[in-house]
Amino acid sequence: MNSRSNMVKVALVGGEGIGPEVTAQSQRILGWFIAKRGVAMALRKAEYGLIPYLATGRVLPQDTVEAMDEADAIVWGATGGPETKEVPASARKAGSLLSLRRKYDLYANLRPIVANPALGDSTPLKAEVLQGVDFVIVRELTSGIYFGEPRGIETLADGQRRGFNTEQYTTEQIRRVARAAFELARTRKNKVCSVDKANVLETSVLWREEVIALHREEFADVELNHLYVDNAAMQIVREPRQFDVMVTSNIFGDILSDCAAMASGSLGMLPSASLGPVDQFARRKALYEPVHGSAPDIAGKGIANPLGSILSVAMMLRLTMNRRKDADLLERAVDSALTAGARTADIAEPGARKLSTAEMGDAVLSALDRMAAEEGL
Ligand code: IPM
Ligand code: MG
Repeated sequence: MNSRSNMVKVALVGGEGIGPEVTAQSQRILGWFIAKRGVAMALRKAEYGLIPYLATGRVLPQDTVEAMDEADAIVWGATGGPETKEVPASARKAGSLLSLRRKYDLYANLRPIVANPALGDSTPLKAEVLQGVDFVIVRELTSGIYFGEPRGIETLADGQRRGFNTEQYTTEQIRRVARAAFELARTRKNKVCSVDKANVLETSVLWREEVIALHREEFADVELNHLYVDNAAMQIVREPRQFDVMVTSNIFGDILSDCAAMASGSLGMLPSASLGPVDQFARRKALYEPVHGSAPDIAGKGIANPLGSILSVAMMLRLTMNRRKDADLLERAVDSALTAGARTADIAEPGARKLSTAEMGDAVLSALDRMAAEEGL
């Protein structure tokens, strides 16, 4: 084996909108862990979106496909925005984030929701509701209504148009994401809440039956309960601290995770990991991205919050690289920067000084330097 084969390969794909700006800060953070903590990783930057489309006719050019194919982990920025109009829908579809999730079979999407007391003023929820909130939404990411066939828009005999999609789940698609949730729960507070709409939908009836069966067969030690999705949405706002791990379908997870984001202070704070199946070498492909999206209204201004991306890098250190101590260090550095008052515009109290994207990166890097010195790392 040469030394490169021991290196974890990381593709950095900033993409569109604020994606490249926030990913640039994550790149600086990764540089710190390589230089100061000896984390063995090889970074490869690649382009995605309008810029490569104008140059090559593809939103996902060949070089980026290669970088992502060979990567153990992809640090993804964002996709989409008003410039979408300049790229025909067919070209977009060919290289879309959805098709990438599918291509790499990234079926388990982890979205942690942690309330940060320092951000109490920038969330619409009351401080007492947010006290102690710390849970993870495990969203099924490669099946369900997002991918089900048949789908389309057709014209009926009477001239009306009819749009249709298909929600569908197989036993294995349900079981593998439920397994991910149970395994995660065992490393936390050992509680899983499965969310469905089993009072109406057959896919949800099957979902619930399979989750219950898997629980009985392999995870009887984990506490399990079930909520209908409408009730779950209400409970996330009413008493979010009741949750530890929540597992749900693709579309329910999409909706509930935006709702739950408010319990963490800002959508700009939310990281995510999308994990594929474990292969015969015990490796699994993973894509790490902030949940916030491309935010075209503030793109290019250097004011976006990079913490969602930076916290996604912490997830990568923990889940792909097995560097738990370094992941904790990075999360504590973010906390420390926030506690010391570092705020980008989206989380700033009225009258507070607003840091630029790069200044927030600086704040996290100096917290890392200070903590590493204090802890003798
Ligand atoms: C998300 C996003 C995506 C989704 C969009 C951009 C297709 O909302 O990751 O939550 O719906 O999955
Ligand atoms: Mg979403």
